[in-house]
Amino acid sequence: MAASIVKRVNRVKKLNVSHISARYKFLTGSRHFSTSKQWNKALVLGVYENESTDSIDFTGTARKFDEKADGQISQLLLTVKKPLKCGKTRTLHAVDPEFSSVLVTCIGKRGEGYDELETVDKGRESIRAAVAKAVLQLRELGENEIEVDSCGDTEASAEGCHLALFSYDDLKAEKSRKPAVRISCATRYSQDKNSMEKEWRKGAILAEGQNLSRRLMEMPANLLTPTKFAEIVKEQLADKCEVLVRDKDWAESMKMGSFLSVARGSVEPPVFLEIEYKGRQSDSPLALVGKGVTFDTGGISIKPSQGMDAMRGDMGGAACVAGSLLSVSKLQLPVHVKAFIPLCENMPSGSATKPGDVVTAMNGKTIQVDNTDAEGRLILADALCYSEQFNPSLILDMATLTGAIDVALGAGAAGVFTNSENMWNKLQKASVRSGDRVWRMPLFNHYTKKITECQLADLNNIGGSRSGGACTAAAFLKEFVNNKNWLHLDIAGVMSNSGDVAYLGKGMSGRPTRTVIEFINLMSKETNN
Ligand code: BES
Ligand code: ZN
Ligand code: ZN
Repeated sequence: MAASIVKRVNRVKKLNVSHISARYKFLTGSRHFSTSKQWNKALVLGVYENESTDSIDFTGTARKFDEKADGQISQLLLTVKKPLKCGKTRTLHAVDPEFSSVLVTCIGKRGEGYDELETVDKGRESIRAAVAKAVLQLRELGENEIEVDSCGDTEASAEGCHLALFSYDDLKAEKSRKPAVRISCATRYSQDKNSMEKEWRKGAILAEGQNLSRRLMEMPANLLTPTKFAEIVKEQLADKCEVLVRDKDWAESMKMGSFLSVARGSVEPPVFLEIEYKGRQSDSPLALVGKGVTFDTGGISIKPSQGMDAMRGDMGGAACVAGSLLSVSKLQLPVHVKAFIPLCENMPSGSATKPGDVVTAMNGKTIQVDNTDAEGRLILADALCYSEQFNPSLILDMATLTGAIDVALGAGAAGVFTNSENMWNKLQKASVRSGDRVWRMPLFNHYTKKITECQLADLNNIGGSRSGGACTAAAFLKEFVNNKNWLHLDIAGVMSNSGDVAYLGKGMSGRPTRTVIEFINLMSKETNN
C-alpha cells in the first residue's frame, strides 16, 4: 500500500525530487509507523468549492500548509478530475512528516453567509458539518491528535469538531467505546494566534454546554433520577454558580400543587432546582425555566409502549438550561441569570393523579387534569409562577412539551411562543449564528379559550381537541406568566437527532442549547440584565 502511494506521489509533476526520496524513507519505516506516537497526528484542511480542474481554492491556513509542503497537497488533489463538492473529503497520507493523515474537507462556496429562506448562516453551518465529517473519519483511521483548520470561522470550526466527537458510551465495555481524540486549532500560520485561540475556546465551550445537555438527556432514567440530576448539576456548576436543591416539603410550603400532582405517582422524590449565576450585579436577572421530567410514562393516561424509551429525554428543557449555564459561566458572560428546574417522574401508580382530578397551582388557579400525560405544563406552571418572584427582566422556558410541535416543525426548528417582538428578534438572531433554528408560533386568544373552557376548574390541561396542540399548551403556560418578555420554547421536535443535523450524531440532541447561550450573550450586552 505504501508503495502505491509513492507511485502516486511520483506521478505528480513538478515535485521536488529530494522530497520524494525523503518521503519514501519515511514510508518504508513501518516499524517506526506503528510505534511512534507522532503517527497518530492528523491535520484537517478546508477548501472552497471550485469548478476549476487546475486550481484549488484553499482556506488561508490550508494554502500555507500547501506552500510549506511544496504544493504537494494541491497537486495530489488535482491528480483526479472531479473537484471537491461541499461536504466531501479527500484523505492524503504521507504528505507531511508531522501528520500521518491530511484530510481535506470541502466547506462550500466562498463567501456564503445568511440565507433568508433557511434563516441560517450557511457559511458557518457548512464549516461545522465539514470539520465534523473530517474528525470522525480521522477517528475511524485511529488518529488521536487532530489539528483543525479554522476555515475562516474559528468558533464554528471548534463547535463542529467538539459536537461531532461527542458520544455517550459510559455504560459500554471499554473496547466498544469511541477512542479519545485530542483536537486543537491549526494556529501556526495565523497573524493573531491569541484571538484565534480565544475564538476556538469559545466554540469549544459552546459545544461543551450542548454536550452536557446531550449527556443528561441520553442517560437512562433509572440512573438519572431527579436526585441524580441535581447531583450532577451541582458537580458541574457549583464552582461558578449557587445551586439550591429544594425538596418536596419546600415545594409543599410554596403551594406548588400543580408540580406535586405530577410527582405523586412516583417513588422517586421530586426536586426543585434553583441556580444562580451572577456575572454582574443586578436586581432583574434573566430567568431560565426548564421542564425536568426524568421519565414520562404518561401517568394514568399511559403512553403506548413503542418508543417510550425516548421519554428519558423528557428532561430536555432542564438539560438545556444546565448546559446553557455551564457555558455562560465558563465564558464568564457579564450577566445575571437565575434558573428554575422542576424535576420529577410521571408514573402511574396507586397514588398517581387521575384524569378529572383538580389541583391548585402556586398562583391559586385551579386545574382540571383531564390527561395526566399533559404533565409538562403542570410542572412548568408552578416553576413559572415562582420565577416571577425574582423580578426577572425576561423569562425563557424550554420544554419537550408536545408531540404536536413535532408534527408541525419536525426537527427543523424549535417552536417559539413569545409576547415580545423584541425578544423574538434577538432569539432569532442568536439562532442564525448557532445554526440551531427557531420558528415563531402564535399565542392567540383563540387557544386560550380552549383551555379556559373547563367543567370543574379555572383551566383544563389539554384544551379539548388535539388541534393546535402546541399552541394550546403554550396558551396554558401563558396563564402563569405576567412578565412582558416571556419566551416559551417547545423543543419536543428537536429532542433527538436522527441524522438531520450533520454534525450531531444520532441520539439526544441537546438542542437548542447553543442558541440560548448566544441569546444570553446578546442580552448581556443590554444594560439591565
Ligand atoms: N413529553 C411529552 C411530549 C413529547 C412528545 C416530547 C414527543 C418528546 C417527544 C408530553 O408530556 C406529552 O405527552 N404531551 C402530550 C399532550 C397531550 C396529552 C395533550 C402529547 O403531545 O401528546
Ligand atoms: Zn406527557
Ligand atoms: Zn412530558
